[in-house]
Amino acid sequence: GKVRAPTHIISTISDDRGEEPCYAGVPMSSIIEQGYGVGDVISLLWFKRSLPRYCTKFIEICIMLCADHGPCVSGAHNTIVTARAGKDLVSSLVSGLLTIGPRFGGAIDDAARYFKDACDRNLTPYEFVEDMKKKGIRVPGIGHRIKSRDNRDKRVELLQKFARSNFPSVKYMEYAVQVESYTLSKANNLVLNVDGAIGSLFLDLLAGSGMFTKQEIDEIVQIGYLNGLFVLARSIGLIGHTFDQKRLKQPLYRHPWEDVLYTK
Ligand code: ACO
Ligand code: LMR
Repeated sequence: GKVRAPTHIISTISDDRGEEPCYAGVPMSSIIEQGYGVGDVISLLWFKRSLPRYCTKFIEICIMLCADHGPCVSGAHNTIVTARAGKDLVSSLVSGLLTIGPRFGGAIDDAARYFKDACDRNLTPYEFVEDMKKKGIRVPGIGHRIKSRDNRDKRVELLQKFARSNFPSVKYMEYAVQVESYTLSKANNLVLNVDGAIGSLFLDLLAGSGMFTKQEIDEIVQIGYLNGLFVLARSIGLIGHTFDQKRLKQPLYRHPWEDVLYTK
């Protein structure tokens, strides 16, 4: 009989061996001819299925809203400094991307994990937040450097508005909003931030689309797919900042002494 040599790699998301490449079994010509968007491509390559239009639209909205947030945020700052040190596009981009993590842009997965666990266990926002405090863990998805009760994050409002009129259920988002009401009673800047809004709403997307089993949802949350949305989105802005600095022929950046507290 046939002897099959063992393979060193298993891959399940794409195939380039035929006449045309396929993403999750969908040939490139269908992707183009049927007018798929980047949300559909993400849904094929990350989730290995075609999600309904409102889901792929939501993914696209996340990408657009998180593409940039000005030059002062951690990621853009690193990218700008790197570009001004004369480094190439990829170096400037990854230098910015490396700042994405638990404090900046990379709190989406943990927000989804903690909101899901607390909501599924029917914890009141008080119980959830106070329990996190006892454990010494900041609530992922809550808090912002410049946004506050009186200066809400427009991105969060836009995501919530879209979901309220397009998702079958916004249970997790409503839970996150209740958590926000409680944290806002403690301090003005403890708003639901864009990471928390995406984290909670993606739980609603996964549960409400009817396209994922409970086990698949747990796996997506546990592996941590969702920070990928911010990484992908912010790459657009970081590439823009690199081009901007090069176009402006900006010199090497050196931080001013006056802005450093030199002390013993
Ligand atoms: N949960 C509970 N308490 C908090 C939280 C939170 N998420 N954030 C701030 N606090 C409280 C704490 O008491 C903190 O004191 P501590 O330093 O003793 O813990 C106090 O507020 C002051 O915190 P600051 O460090 O001054 O807050 P800062 O403005 O620097 O932090 C940040 C902003 C980093 C976003 C913070 O709120 C945080 O860690 N949030 C959780 C992570 C997160 O969601 N990051 C994504 C932000 S959105 C984005 O990056 C696109
Ligand atoms: C962002 O999207 O980069 C921000 O929410 C973080 C910030 O500090 O403004």
